[in-house]
Amino acid sequence: HVPHPVVVAVDGPSGSGKSSVCRRVAARLGLAYLDTGAMYRAATWWCLENGIDLDATDTVTAAVERMPLEVGVDPEGPTFTVGGRDVGEAIRTAAISSVVSRVATNLDARADLGERQRRIIAVECSAEGWSGGRGVVVEGRDITTVIAPDADVRLLLTASEEARLARRARELHGDADAASVEATRSHVVGRDAQDSTVVEFMTAADGVVTVDSSDLDLEQTVEAVLTVVARVTSA
Ligand code: DC
Repeated sequence: HVPHPVVVAVDGPSGSGKSSVCRRVAARLGLAYLDTGAMYRAATWWCLENGIDLDATDTVTAAVERMPLEVGVDPEGPTFTVGGRDVGEAIRTAAISSVVSRVATNLDARADLGERQRRIIAVECSAEGWSGGRGVVVEGRDITTVIAPDADVRLLLTASEEARLARRARELHGDADAASVEATRSHVVGRDAQDSTVVEFMTAADGVVTVDSSDLDLEQTVEAVLTVVARVTSA
């Protein structure tokens, strides 16, 4: 039994299994689910859609600030629409993945998206939210440290580089053979290195519980996270 509202903050590198795990945890607990990485992806999509040079920092910031983004927080079917257009699929393409760090390392764009994230969290902790005030599972890179440092539960989901590369290779190429893993290496490791220049998500901040999913399958990782949530919220 989890007291409400509850905020569960989960950070971790790409390939840690965060999204699949967080969606399931939210569904099991009846909580809303917020994927903040998707907001950075939507911002990137919006800039490209408007023909903006991603290195033009101030132009990017101004564009992000007026992005008409709507976020749906049902963990069974999270949605992202920009100006009424469903961008759920468009934001997952390799074209977006390969450049999203340029927006994610723009500190003013981060400030704007961060404010939106805090607002969504506040709404989900109130009766007006989709969750009816039960709360929200929020995943990203800076949730435990910057966006919701006061969250009831703060988790870092990690996995060995080997395990993360194998997962991404399976997602992208349907296989984790040596060639697929190598093809994945440069972009996963490169993106994490780039993102690490503005937020620290490879090591746990003070008070953040680490769950290592290297040797766990999805259901085991979900169970491990639920165990931490139960322990921390009943303490
Ligand atoms: O988790 P993801 O791959 O969808 O994240 C997309 C990008 O956004 C990635 O480059 C990391 C960045 N990001 C971030 O800087 N801060 C967050 N809270 C979430 C994602």
